[in-house]
Amino acid sequence: MRALLVDHSAPAGLRLGEAPDPVPAPDEALVRVTATSLNPGEVTGVIPGSPDGAVPGWDAAGVVERAAADGSGPAPGTPVATLGLAGGWAELRAVRTDLLGVVPAEADLGAIATTPVAGLSALRALHRLGPVLGRRVLVTGATGGVGRYAVQLARRGGAHVVATTGDPDRHGDRLRALGAHEVVADPGELADPVHGVLDLVGGPQLVRAHGRLAARGTLVSVGRASGEPTAFPAGAFEGMGAHDRTIATFFLLDCPDLGPDLTWLAGQVHAGALDPNVTWRGSWRDADAALAALVERRLHGKAVLDLD
Ligand SMILES: NC(=O)c1ccc[n+]([C@@H]2O[C@H](COP(=O)([O-])OP(=O)(O)OC[C@H]3O[C@@H](n4cnc5c(N)ncnc54)[C@H](OP(=O)(O)O)[C@@H]3O)[C@@H](O)[C@H]2O)c1
Repeated sequence: MRALLVDHSAPAGLRLGEAPDPVPAPDEALVRVTATSLNPGEVTGVIPGSPDGAVPGWDAAGVVERAAADGSGPAPGTPVATLGLAGGWAELRAVRTDLLGVVPAEADLGAIATTPVAGLSALRALHRLGPVLGRRVLVTGATGGVGRYAVQLARRGGAHVVATTGDPDRHGDRLRALGAHEVVADPGELADPVHGVLDLVGGPQLVRAHGRLAARGTLVSVGRASGEPTAFPAGAFEGMGAHDRTIATFFLLDCPDLGPDLTWLAGQVHAGALDPNVTWRGSWRDADAALAALVERRLHGKAVLDLD
């Protein structure tokens, strides 16, 4: 099969080449992939840290070629969205049936390919906050792939949504169109406290977001797009208003029962009720251009590669 392979001698660390077909375990379906989407962790972590010849890829959408031998999961011919730690950037993917969502017939599989990592992370991190109806929720790094899903889902959940971006003048209108009530450059600007935070930036921005958390509020630390260390000042966890605030850690692939949520997200995207925010789309032959846009922070939203 053809696949995007790690090749440290190539400019972006990847080349389109030939790899052995995957051999599915009994609980895995074999999926013919037609589209994938990129995530920053793959570019900054997986590609540099993998040996030559490895096939990366967390997100992939396609059609079941062969059902799992144990009888679980959908039948051949079913369109699906899939999640895994590797192997998504290839024509064939063996994927555990509990990490697979069923996609409506006729759906745009490119749009659906944005749902596994970005959509599920936003949804599951939001679940961790508990009910948000009528409550203030802050999403940091809201212009990114996860953030744009998080803004939409928090708004759907009835929250008063506050979004941060490094450039509110440039991104404010888009974030408000997705559902943000307020757009600010930094959590430190907020006059009123928030009940919940989905933090995608980390570092000093996480510390300032935590500083705006109301008593009994929760901050879910999902990402660290800034790459900066997080250092709390002395006294950050005590004093008036600081009672019983929670910082929760998050790792998507440790979340149980992702399949039904992936099916739901795919249906919402197909119905037009959730915008996948595809801001770069092209052939996987042009993966280098998408990778460069992501690394250079020119890409806000999701990059989708079609396996043509
Ligand atoms: N824990 C998990 O299981 C899990 C799952 C999914 C994602 N993540 C992590 O969550 C984070 C967000 O993921 P994503 O896919 O939404 O990423 P993304 O599309 O790259 O978006 C990240 C956003 O963070 C903002 N940002 C602020 N400071 C930045 C900096 N120094 N460099 C780059 N961006 C910066 C950017 O917004 P502005 O330019 O508008 O400021 C950007 O849009 C990443 O760290 C990712 O690895 C973790």
